[in-house]
Amino acid sequence: MDLFSYRDGDVFCEGVRLADIVEQVGTPVYVYSAGTIRHHYRAIIEAFEAVKPLICFSIKSLSNLQILRLLADEGSGFDVVSGGEVARVLAIGADPGRVVFAGVGKTDREINEAIAAGVGLFNVESEQEFENLSRLAGAAGRTVRAALRVNPDVDPKTHRYTTTGKKETKFGVDIERAERFFETYGRDDNVRLDAIHLHIGSPIYSAQPYVDAINKTLKLMARLSAKGLEIRTLDIGGGFGADYVEGQSPLAVDYARQIVPLLTGTNLDVILEPGRQIVCNAGVLATTVLYVKQGGERNFVIVDAAMTDLIRPALYESEHFVYPARLADGAQPPTRRPDYEAPDGIRVDIVGGVCESSDFLAKDRVLPVMERGDLLTVFSAGAYGAVMSSQYNSRPRAPEVLVEGDQWRLIRRRETYDDLFAAEQDS
Ligand SMILES: Cc1ncc(COP(=O)(O)O)c(C=O)c1O
Repeated sequence: MDLFSYRDGDVFCEGVRLADIVEQVGTPVYVYSAGTIRHHYRAIIEAFEAVKPLICFSIKSLSNLQILRLLADEGSGFDVVSGGEVARVLAIGADPGRVVFAGVGKTDREINEAIAAGVGLFNVESEQEFENLSRLAGAAGRTVRAALRVNPDVDPKTHRYTTTGKKETKFGVDIERAERFFETYGRDDNVRLDAIHLHIGSPIYSAQPYVDAINKTLKLMARLSAKGLEIRTLDIGGGFGADYVEGQSPLAVDYARQIVPLLTGTNLDVILEPGRQIVCNAGVLATTVLYVKQGGERNFVIVDAAMTDLIRPALYESEHFVYPARLADGAQPPTRRPDYEAPDGIRVDIVGGVCESSDFLAKDRVLPVMERGDLLTVFSAGAYGAVMSSQYNSRPRAPEVLVEGDQWRLIRRRETYDDLFAAEQDS
């Protein structure tokens, strides 16, 4: 479900025509639907109701303060991976006690800031990190709480760059080593280590890898319990899928149907860290056609957005559905599938203006014939879109807009040339 649709031939976000936003803000621009974000957040809460989870929205997927405030108002906690993300939580006045802090490379500064802020749970990924956390908490005169990130060695069957819960990744510790970890550090004076964190990859289009990971973890917990080491919290991480292709992803209830029965009756506090499922199809990237060009055998549609605005196709070979924001008179709205072929369309690559041949938004798409000035919509761009944008080629980053019903507002302005060199010395 999302609140983007074609109405009378135009793309609308909730009650606002995309072209009307573009007229005032220009392109490229990210446009988000508040109603879609709330819908997905509530769907997860409802699906997992039986285990009363704490949802910690994964800030790395979409970190704009106004989006975070919207989610905090819904009751969300936050999953953070850096001092900057902790600062974002503090900037919106959200409760740091409902924050989980992951990441293999937390610096002393980041840990000290998180201790001072009162972050609820440190998701620890190595022995040395644990020892460092204990040292810093002791020096600050504070007791903090930690989960050990465990690699259950299950294959989430996703892109190799986003697989994290297998043995050979840099994240967490292997399940065999976890037992020894708890025996060594489970009675520390400064860090209460009584939780386990899993995050096996993203996106995961089936509940089965979660079931396998949780079953292995419950067995580990039983072994620890026999040694007097009680685990009170299980954080199952993020990774739920989203619709890049219409109807592709299981819904929150589909994951919950298989996961919840494993957790009911365990008395565990459950944490979930969804990012993508909440915001992916709550956002689009609007871009304007600059030029149309035939190069050898291929046709190129060159647009004003690039890998600097949306790097996922270049980085992960991700496929986003891209289509004109205005249909020809009488044309039917498309099905949102990358292999959708526009009637009487031509096969094109949609590329940006950055000096890299990996700079493309989509390849081999059959689009209606495009002209200079036409507006294109890149769908399902809300997660890992704006947050991964860069200023490479000295391109100012795109603005972000939030739509609520028939109102919209700018939640991040377009960067200026001054922003490009604001942090640099000129002498
Ligand atoms: C530790 C952790 N939690 C949660 C997430 C969010 O994943 P997703 O956006 O797929 O739900 C990530 C993503 O990489 C992660 O690394």
